[in-house]
Amino acid sequence: MSHDGNKDNSLNLLFTVTWKDDSVVLIDQTKLPNKLAYVRCKDYKEVADAIKNLVVRGAPAIGITAALGLALAAMHSKAETLNQLLADLDAAMKLLQSTRPTAINLFWALKRVMQTAKEKKSIDEAKKAILDEALKMLKEDIEINKRIGRNGAKLFESGDVVMTHCNAGSLATAAYGTALGVIRAAREEGKHITVIATETRPVMQGSRLTAFELQHDGIDVSLIPDTAVGFTMSRGAIRRVIVGADRILRTGHVFNKIGTYQVAVMAKIHKIPFYVAAPFSTFDFESNPEDIVIEERSKEEVTMMGNKRIAPEGVRVFNPAFDVTPPELITGIITEKGILKPPFKKELTLMGINHGKINPTKSTG
Ligand code: MRU
Repeated sequence: MSHDGNKDNSLNLLFTVTWKDDSVVLIDQTKLPNKLAYVRCKDYKEVADAIKNLVVRGAPAIGITAALGLALAAMHSKAETLNQLLADLDAAMKLLQSTRPTAINLFWALKRVMQTAKEKKSIDEAKKAILDEALKMLKEDIEINKRIGRNGAKLFESGDVVMTHCNAGSLATAAYGTALGVIRAAREEGKHITVIATETRPVMQGSRLTAFELQHDGIDVSLIPDTAVGFTMSRGAIRRVIVGADRILRTGHVFNKIGTYQVAVMAKIHKIPFYVAAPFSTFDFESNPEDIVIEERSKEEVTMMGNKRIAPEGVRVFNPAFDVTPPELITGIITEKGILKPPFKKELTLMGINHGKINPTKSTG
């Protein structure tokens, strides 16, 4: 991987993933907030490594990156028949899918680009179709985020102090963001919003990424330790909470960064509206809560801080990367198609059926 980059100065937006000179160019999020550096992935294996190692993270961003990774696999394939190409793509898809298990956007994006290849009659057509579709997804992602932003901004008033957890911003998408996109859109409407970002231990997406991104865009942000969520809410300092999602089930269960559930419980106790902002590509109309694999990450994320040990050697560690927020804690789910209100199950099941994702004749639990 080598360094390069892209930035839209007119909008001052960070572009997390782009396609340049037959490579996938990513903001290296492992270097933030100290350095805004870019890496260039020249083949799908480098893309898979970048996703696995959190160079790129956030549900929509990893979906788009993986789709572009598949385009690289197509481009470099030596296949001479369409079937051989599809077999090469299948192998690449399996590697990309194995990088992270929880965010559905990864699987959704790979399935979507793979499908376009399968519909083609020649190798050249299939190779072109994959790249075209992946680039279309990248462009669509920004448009969808802006729509989510406009829909959600209606819920926010000037002067609101809004808590967010993890990073569901430009850095978690192609650009603009979902939860932070709502805050951007509110600001574009002339509303003054102050953001309280949680640190989001142990990977610190809140302090390293959300604080960096909002400062970069000139949005008022303060940082609190995760442990200060309840106290800050109890002081009456927070008007609303907004977070992103890695997967939303038809039951309204939201899988998101570890700690989201605690924030939602606290919000409920303090009667603070708790919103989730996510695109339709984050919905999983088929699975039940117990089917979803929650990624568990290395114990070093918990026991070490940089090179410094912060827990005794040999201690047992449980380090889940995501948790589940049940629907009863959620005030609304903001999507590009509008705001879903509880009870979510009925509305979402209907949407799943309309999308052909749920077979209404079969029991889905
Ligand atoms: O482990 P990460 O950093 O990929 O987790 C990211 C999150 O949990 C985000 O909140 C989620 O993907 C929504 S991003 C729009």
